[in-house]
Amino acid sequence: MRIAVAGGTGTVGRHAVAAAHERGHDVVVLSRADGVDVTTGVGLTAALRGADVVIDVTNTTTFFASTARRFFETATHHLLASEQAAGVGHHVALSIVGIDDIDASYYAGKLAQERAVAAGKVPYTIARAAQFHEFVGQLLASQKGPVVVMPTAPMRPVAAREVGEYLVTVAESSPAGRATDLVGPRDEQLADLARRQLAHDGARRKVLELRLPGRYARGLASGSLRGDGPRIEGKVTFDDWLTSADVRRTA
Ligand SMILES: NC(=O)c1ccc[n+]([C@@H]2O[C@H](COP(=O)([O-])OP(=O)(O)OC[C@H]3O[C@@H](n4cnc5c(N)ncnc54)[C@H](OP(=O)(O)O)[C@@H]3O)[C@@H](O)[C@H]2O)c1
Repeated sequence: MRIAVAGGTGTVGRHAVAAAHERGHDVVVLSRADGVDVTTGVGLTAALRGADVVIDVTNTTTFFASTARRFFETATHHLLASEQAAGVGHHVALSIVGIDDIDASYYAGKLAQERAVAAGKVPYTIARAAQFHEFVGQLLASQKGPVVVMPTAPMRPVAAREVGEYLVTVAESSPAGRATDLVGPRDEQLADLARRQLAHDGARRKVLELRLPGRYARGLASGSLRGDGPRIEGKVTFDDWLTSADVRRTA
């Protein structure tokens, strides 16, 4: 099978690319570094020639709902148009567990992406995963100083490696509309994860957990990110991951 991975150089994308190679697929990576831009469509036609499936794990980093919506809607529009022209039979989009009632901030973009995929003409599967273990380090790295603020956020983090492998399994299957959610093996609290990562790294920074105002923060605090429907559980715990070769220090 020829699998195109849009965002194949990213946190989860590199694992999807590795898993697809390991299973003997022909893999093409789409990223700006590879000369493909999903927000303009540049390079897409050539890159998708002969592809059977596209896995979309592109991303933008923003807390603004309008920016997130613009990125994910535009990227999906260009991807689906080029997939249709190239005769691609399956579009796989990665989204996030438990965001239905959090139509705000970054999650507004993910919900807009899901709607755009569902409204498109290419047969699709939307696969939702919980927060990656890597997410904690990204939040730590985004703040400077001896005290880091973490919003109250119950979650069930999962290894990006397992998400990448799952996406390839979904890509190998027929389009299903929605795949079963993928979450991690344990219920966790974001602030506690941050403390464990800092302790593991020997960092002296303190973590202050706050229940922040606003729709987005209320959504994080609600516990919905852990998922409440049928779900598949990954095996790699956060503490396993901290000592694994997959960890990339960002804190
Ligand atoms: N982080 C989490 O905890 C989590 C949980 C569940 C689901 N997800 C979803 O997983 C997806 C991937 O997240 P990630 O953290 O792996 O992303 P990431 O590490 O930020 O990687 C983003 C990838 O997208 C590519 N990209 C960005 N803009 C592009 C553009 N205009 N055209 C082509 N390629 C572009 C990047 O390569 P270039 O920069 O070279 O273009 C890179 O390969 C996102 O959709 C996210 O919502 C994330």
